[in-house]
Amino acid sequence: MSYSWIDHDLLILEKANWLRSVQQIPANFLNFGTNDYLGLAEDERLKEAAIAAIQQYGTGSTGSRLLSGHRELHQELEDKIARLKRSEDALVFSSGYLANMGVVPALVGKRDLILADQYNHSCLVQGCRLSGAIVKEYHHLDCSHLESLLKQNRHIFQRCLILTNSVFSMTGDIAPLKQITELADRYAAMVMVDEAHGTGVFGKNGSGVVEMLEIDKPIVQVGTLSKAIGSLGGFVASSAKVIKYLRSRTSTWIYTTALSPADTAAAIKAIEIITTEPERRARLWRNIFYLADLLSVSQLKKEKNDRSFSPIFPIITKDIPAALSLAQTCWQNAIYAPAIRPPTVPTARIRLSLTAKHDPCDIDRVWEIINRNYLPEHS
Ligand SMILES: Cc1ncc(COP(=O)(O)O)c(C=O)c1O
Repeated sequence: MSYSWIDHDLLILEKANWLRSVQQIPANFLNFGTNDYLGLAEDERLKEAAIAAIQQYGTGSTGSRLLSGHRELHQELEDKIARLKRSEDALVFSSGYLANMGVVPALVGKRDLILADQYNHSCLVQGCRLSGAIVKEYHHLDCSHLESLLKQNRHIFQRCLILTNSVFSMTGDIAPLKQITELADRYAAMVMVDEAHGTGVFGKNGSGVVEMLEIDKPIVQVGTLSKAIGSLGGFVASSAKVIKYLRSRTSTWIYTTALSPADTAAAIKAIEIITTEPERRARLWRNIFYLADLLSVSQLKKEKNDRSFSPIFPIITKDIPAALSLAQTCWQNAIYAPAIRPPTVPTARIRLSLTAKHDPCDIDRVWEIINRNYLPEHS
């Protein structure tokens, strides 16, 4: 056996600044790298719901949903997700990654076409690969390019699936879902939207970007329970017929242990809070507009367009060392503001994410450090 190639590859990763490692964020740090958008992950009510579920059902769910793993809690969560998403039914997974990676190959196969935004999340990309379908990427958010791909290719394939994040995790911008669903109607395609960063954050009821943009077409919505919902797990919501089909055809749901009772109960409680406490969302959006205003008067200007805002703000840096150095300076000032670099993204950046728990003075603090130490992209 030989693993000597690993030494060589580790060296290459190190030289390219691509080597990753984990770090513990001290409790006293200001955190601008969390996806806990509504601050629910530490909410007492979620903790109590999780503890009660452990006491009633135990820690593990002991099997897959189709064998020994199904609990009434799962049904309750699926009903709540379906209601939140204004869809007929839903299915919960052990993670959002598994949901996306499993649903794509359940919907399309070898004779089919996938048209995917070039910045889609890794789990959608993996789902595309697993499906065996022909995959063509359209330029980020570019519906003219999407339409020209539909025109050229749609008639050659049986089924066609258009695949997009609703909120892009590394750029923070929003997919033009209205235009995408209209194109899908015109070209007899399906649409699957990953609302991982949209759920709980957008829309009057916190349903997501689909609600905010008033999309009423029969799309497939996928998401995670681990960001604004503050728990762990993933979901797909759609028509009763689609969900019935997915229950029999999605290998990442069929062949894996059901979501734990604690995670399931915490997610149920979180959805109750999301629908009854809009003030959390209002605090988050106050913070989003506060940072957007700071950006609009700086050299890091971002076009002021309400629809393009989200809790995610990328600050693109000159190069990888500049991003790492800026993240380090923030760290030295007790602020976590992560550097994201290739191959995760095409260009290095600091990715700031805001939550309902931040105060404007927290944002002032990170802003002051970034503004003072920032080296622009083309300096
Ligand atoms: C856009 C997007 N989709 C899916 C996922 C995966 O979700 P989960 O963390 O539940 O596996 C993520 C998580 O980082 C994400 O950003």
